[in-house]
Amino acid sequence: MLVLHKECLLCSILPKRKHADTGKGRKRVLVVVLAACLCGCGRQEPAQDIVEEVPLFWEIHTTQELLEGDYLLYYVNCAGTQMEGQGLYQSSADQAYGADAGTGKMWGYQPKEYMEAVADTSGEGVMGSRWEIQEGASYDAEETGFYYDFELPQGEYEVTVGFYNPFSARTVCVDLEGNREVDSLKILKYKLTEAVATTEVTDGSLQVKVYNPDRGSDAMKDPILSYITVKAVPVYDEALLGQYLEQMAVPSGEEGRYTASSYQVYQEKREEALGLAAGEGQPAEYRKACEELKEAYGELEEIKVYGTFQVGKRWTDDEGNLIQAHGGQVQRIPVRDAATGEMVEKWWWVGEDKSAGYRGGIRAYSSDDLYNWHSEGIVMRNVDSREQLEEDPYFQELYGDYTEEQLDNVYACLSSQTAVIERPKMLYNQKTDMYVIWFHADGPTQYSDSNYAAASAGVAVSRTPNGPFRFIDRYRLNTCPKDQEDFYPQSKGMARDMNLFVDEDGTAYIIYSSEENLTLYISRLNEEYTYLATDPEEAVYGEDFIRLFPGAQREAPALFVRDGSYYLMTSGCTGWSPNQARYYRADSVLGEWENCGDPCVGDDKLTTFDSQSTCIFLADEDKGTYIYMGDRWNSEDLTNSRYIWLPVEFQEDGSMYLHYQEEWSLESPTP
Ligand code: GAL
Repeated sequence: MLVLHKECLLCSILPKRKHADTGKGRKRVLVVVLAACLCGCGRQEPAQDIVEEVPLFWEIHTTQELLEGDYLLYYVNCAGTQMEGQGLYQSSADQAYGADAGTGKMWGYQPKEYMEAVADTSGEGVMGSRWEIQEGASYDAEETGFYYDFELPQGEYEVTVGFYNPFSARTVCVDLEGNREVDSLKILKYKLTEAVATTEVTDGSLQVKVYNPDRGSDAMKDPILSYITVKAVPVYDEALLGQYLEQMAVPSGEEGRYTASSYQVYQEKREEALGLAAGEGQPAEYRKACEELKEAYGELEEIKVYGTFQVGKRWTDDEGNLIQAHGGQVQRIPVRDAATGEMVEKWWWVGEDKSAGYRGGIRAYSSDDLYNWHSEGIVMRNVDSREQLEEDPYFQELYGDYTEEQLDNVYACLSSQTAVIERPKMLYNQKTDMYVIWFHADGPTQYSDSNYAAASAGVAVSRTPNGPFRFIDRYRLNTCPKDQEDFYPQSKGMARDMNLFVDEDGTAYIIYSSEENLTLYISRLNEEYTYLATDPEEAVYGEDFIRLFPGAQREAPALFVRDGSYYLMTSGCTGWSPNQARYYRADSVLGEWENCGDPCVGDDKLTTFDSQSTCIFLADEDKGTYIYMGDRWNSEDLTNSRYIWLPVEFQEDGSMYLHYQEEWSLESPTP
């Protein structure tokens, strides 16, 4: 039993301890209790010598208990009241030296008259409070400072001392057990500086002293102190690694709960650890294996199951991977079930795969509920080299019967180094029983190395919606009739941002930005949906195509029909940056389109809620719910562009509105 003069905390005198080695691994500590308290409180105690055996740390705690608490024994938020971390031996954020009210452990600071507790709103948590030296206090270079003691069993400890310094730069020193472990550490203004040191504790208590012996007469160099953590340092050996392996195991059958990527990292680390456990290792290797296994286990990410649309948030598929279908389209289509061979209806999402950044192929997802999506893979791959087209079995299968010239064209249009593949949309053609994808096919040409020089519409076909889609060609489309004002006569038939629409009579149309994005066009497709209904040279204005809003500069078209009325939502042209939406209405696809203005209501309406339209589709026939799909492009990191799906609202006169919601479901689409 360790006897302390507990009632006399303010005098800050601690019992003097000496230790003597018993030679049996344990240390004997000789505790000399003071005969009289030196602070003048008048209390007398008979002098006595108590000999106590201080147990080894590993004798009183199970590895499991320590592992769970990350070996943290004390996390002192100096001069604060908020607990920032739960050390095993502590139940309050900070305290003057004495018995902890919850754990009974003796710990805390030695109160000094010059210590001032300061709260700081410029920092949060452990940076929100600190000890300072009171202004005008007399300063002793060696003595003035902050002293803490922590009751600890015998063992090795890692001590971290943190300084959040709102003042001019200065230096601090840290002594552990009377030894200078951190020397003249520079702590800069408005920076958090940490020092970590390890020490051996043999006498039952760790002593920490933080001070600045170089302060001289300059009060601007006074020491400060924000936090201290004390962690046990385990003995990293084969036995401990065994414990880690046992504790950080995923039960068999539960592997599928985690995302493939996080599970793969975990498995790699686990195999490395198992390899080490089977052989001989150095302590440093055991430590590395333990720490890496623990980190990978902690980072196992559970696959999410969605029951709502979480607008603009990370959206992962049923394997936990980020959904990659930007500039996309969702529709309900008949698909052959792989297991039964039966035709079933599925929701189908195609879009740009931006997992590698700007350039990528086309990916598809299927779903039964619109919330949870299954990746159907890359349905049209881009090509890494011209040779790959003739050597890779995937491409050989698709293009085995193409001429050299056609293969050159496939490479030019789908190259992973130069091609731009954007805004893919898919149609199922009942007559040919083929799935047809159209996309904005762009990239440099022989005349220009701009990414958007080709300005064409690409076509690819497949027997199945999950591909692989065979690229046919890319085309320039219809041109401005001679009797109308062409806003970009120097380059004819351009086609960039695009969409597709099939009317109730089965006629399909392509809607796209032309004339250097200044004029939208709608052109009729042939019966197979693989090309224009009529060649541009013979196309008749008003029958085969129309020009919309010449010079208005609209893109990102999304066309849909509701109650016999046709709607076309569009954006302005500001690259990846969002802008104000505008929609139009007509009584037929090639009819007269009327400008109805911005459908967005509320904050951020001027940026379409930080999104750009890509598709509007009927999601719930019974309720008549249409969903607006937009892209929130992240130009710095296109892979992490997000999706903005919102329910479209309609008034009695058919006018359309969009309100922003952070989360919603098909059960109650509007709040
Ligand atoms: C936008 C367009 C996107 C993409 C982007 C590139 O205007 O809608 O699909 O092409 O420009 O800057």
